Amino acid sequence: MHDGHTGGRSADSARVIDVDDLPDGLVVTDRDGHVLTVNRAATRLTGVTREQAEGRHVRDVFSLRDQDGRDWWKWLDPYGGLPARTRQPELPLRTPSGQEMLVAARLVRAPERGGEVVRVVITLRDARVRARLERSRADLVSTVAHELRSPLTSVKGFTATLLAKWTRFTDDQKLVMLETVNADADRVTRLITELLDVSRIESGRLEIHRQVVDIPARVRRIIDGRVAAGEPEDRFRLQVRGELPETWLDQDKIDQVLANLMENAVRHGRGTVTIAVEPNEWGVTVSVRDQGEGIPPELVTRVFRQFWRGNARRRGGTGLGLFIVKGLIEAHGGSISVQSGPDGGAEFRFMVPTGTPDFA
Ligand SMILES: Nc1ncnc2c1ncn2[C@@H]1O[C@H](COP(=O)(O)OP(=O)(O)O)[C@@H](O)[C@H]1O
Ligand SMILES: [Mg+2]
Repeated sequence: MHDGHTGGRSADSARVIDVDDLPDGLVVTDRDGHVLTVNRAATRLTGVTREQAEGRHVRDVFSLRDQDGRDWWKWLDPYGGLPARTRQPELPLRTPSGQEMLVAARLVRAPERGGEVVRVVITLRDARVRARLERSRADLVSTVAHELRSPLTSVKGFTATLLAKWTRFTDDQKLVMLETVNADADRVTRLITELLDVSRIESGRLEIHRQVVDIPARVRRIIDGRVAAGEPEDRFRLQVRGELPETWLDQDKIDQVLANLMENAVRHGRGTVTIAVEPNEWGVTVSVRDQGEGIPPELVTRVFRQFWRGNARRRGGTGLGLFIVKGLIEAHGGSISVQSGPDGGAEFRFMVPTGTPDFA
């Protein structure tokens, strides 16, 4: 199963399916439970190699047990049970060393239904990944609830106060309260819009509608907008190096990425914000850097996480911006990273492939 395609068939290599390519662990046994093959992911999960396992009984080499310590193979009982039974749903099992994994099995019968078991195909998945996912989902719900509650508490507080004591406040005081209410309502709306983006990214429902996008022109437009809103013109510097290829991207999403990175550079950074656009081997590289304090190397892996805000909690952001930016770039088939720029500030650098029209 494993060695059949090495040598002589390289032209076909893209079409040959190798069990070692599977993301999950795979163990196949014969009708008696003797191991026929073990893939690389299974070795990674259990520490048992193909050489160690082949020909031996699955119970002896893997000895998987359920929470109550029962031997899983005995439990699976391929020859007992209903003859129509073909699968064992996924269960959390442990190895003798205490490692937990999710194990499912399929009983291959001949003839297909009701026949004798001829092979048992077992899949193994790392339980820690799922546990981590479940934990992060629970965290997400509580963080979202918390993030929504603080602006709503302020909205409720000010409106209740105004309603109860309307005549006791001057117009100026009322104006300040209403402005706060207005800003908090905006914050809730922004948070919900961003959460919808997060949900689209996480579920893979993000759609990319490609058109020719002139990246320097998009940057210029965002700069013009910010300058029109009162920022000094020399705050931004756009550099285009070399000849850029034609890029087919989702214009709204690229605008969102650029606006987010530039907003961060202004809000979390300092000094001049430099946006450099240059060609690379397969597309375009864009870097956005500032002259602020930058991001300490040990925090670099965290900035792209949901709700991570460093010590910027008071600066009004949601901590979702960079998570969304990364999702948008990856949806284009690109990548993004951050490092220290030449002036010590943060330098976010993303690459997008040139892409092709949607209909191509
Ligand atoms: N240019 C920058 N310089 C320094 N820190 C930054 C920069 N950009 C982002 N960060 C840090 O990364 C965090 C996450 O950014 P982001 O996801 O956009 O959230 P938000 O801007 O809402 O706080 C910020 O809170 C800040 O601590
Ligand atoms: Mg931001």
